[in-house]
Amino acid sequence: MPPSTKAHEVSPNNPCPFLRALVCAGMLPDDVASLGKVTNVITRVAKTGDGHPNLPGAAIRAIAAAANGLNPLQVVRNAKSGVHLNALRNGPLDKNGAGSGILDAEANVVKAELDRLDEFASEKVSASGEKERGLDLNELVHMMNENFKRAEGRRRVIDRFLMDGEWPILLKVMGKSGKDGRYLSVEEVRQLFRERKLPERMMSQLET
Ligand code: HEM
Repeated sequence: MPPSTKAHEVSPNNPCPFLRALVCAGMLPDDVASLGKVTNVITRVAKTGDGHPNLPGAAIRAIAAAANGLNPLQVVRNAKSGVHLNALRNGPLDKNGAGSGILDAEANVVKAELDRLDEFASEKVSASGEKERGLDLNELVHMMNENFKRAEGRRRVIDRFLMDGEWPILLKVMGKSGKDGRYLSVEEVRQLFRERKLPERMMSQLET
């Protein structure tokens, strides 16, 4: 389904900025989506990124199967009836505040945390020669380490591993190939969180 021009409501219980953008664009439902649909939409959207990134469908399917609970009954239920995108909060993938903290528990954007992204960023030069603030993989790793460190006392060991499936994947999908390597544009990440929108350069490829 191509992205719609109307902004769709997104549940506050969906804490994933990428999935929130897909729901907002009407490409995924706000509630239940089959694993096939989620996998298909995510891989198709990923391909619109710079360099046409390929995301592994099997891994996305496995994540979606486990996203509402790790007990075997719940995993089978998700595999059969789909993933509840409006019930990801407090599920096994929710780090309960041990991440960037950009979205609070009600999915409101916390301005100070969004502005903090820039503390880890540096000036980048895009392929067309424009300068902008951006985050490369090293800078994202630094940020994830700091996020994990500051959550001491309220984090699980697995949270640091979960982060590796979030920001570096966003870099792979939404990153730009700059003169000195791939980076996430701070401005585009801000737009993703605040407006629940993926860059126009990606969305325009899905129209029609
Ligand atoms: C079935 C697929 C997916 C599911 C079920 C899922 C679920 C989640 C959940 C529950 C969180 C919240 C974690 C937290 O706040 O502690 C999250 C965060 C996040 N996800 Fe996803 N996600 C999926 C796919 C993706 C993809 C494909 C990308 C990148 C292209 C992505 C990028 C992110 C990022 C950047 C965060 C933010 C973490 C932060 O604020 O620190 N996710 N995801």
